[in-house]
Amino acid sequence: MRALPILALALLTAGCEWVNPMMQQPKVKPYRKSVFYPDQIAMRAPPAGTLPAAAPAELATVTGRNADGTPLARIPVPLTPELLELGRKRYDVFCAVCHGVIGDGQGPVARNMSVRPPPSLVAIPQRPDGFFYTAITEGYGYMPSYRPWLGDEERWAVVAYVRALQLSQGTRIEQAPPDVRARLEKENR
Ligand code: HEC
Repeated sequence: MRALPILALALLTAGCEWVNPMMQQPKVKPYRKSVFYPDQIAMRAPPAGTLPAAAPAELATVTGRNADGTPLARIPVPLTPELLELGRKRYDVFCAVCHGVIGDGQGPVARNMSVRPPPSLVAIPQRPDGFFYTAITEGYGYMPSYRPWLGDEERWAVVAYVRALQLSQGTRIEQAPPDVRARLEKENR
């Protein structure tokens, strides 16, 4: 008699497969191959330049531009130590090879590039935050867009870290908070 409920259960679950049209219709499964697209990749990326349907403020966070097209003056996401740490990691992976580990434009690629060497990023602190963000997002002259590799938050994180690099090299010791100043003075004595 114990077989009966099991049999009933088997029939019931099997029944779902038979009757559920959602299970039966043609579809793609994540990470599966597709014969439909020439590149045979089932999971599609949105076409280049696709933007989310969002409110203007949200859109500015994604594009780095105000409604009139000018770059945002300030980073629109909360500045946290975590964001800076994320920015350091991404910068070291994606930017340092050209713009240098400290942003001075002295990366290994720069030393071997004859066309237009990657410029120093610490030499342009007067540019708005959105300038750095749009350069990463859209590409800049010879430099490609890094949007396919870096998410919106990651790109703002990189901008925050570039700001930290600028401060680390263009700040006088008198401007540092007292505790930091005391430590630096002790270290350099
Ligand atoms: C393959 C080398 C390379 C990499 C990697 C690279 N860049 Fe660049 N970047 C360049 C070059 C070359 C230029 C100048 C392009 C031109 O003027 O045509 C440039 C220009 C820029 C500018 C404009 C600077 C100015 O003075 O006008 C910014 C900002 C910038 N890059 C930021 C970044 C950031 C941030 C990253 C990492 C996400 C990055 N770049 C990765 C090569 C690179």
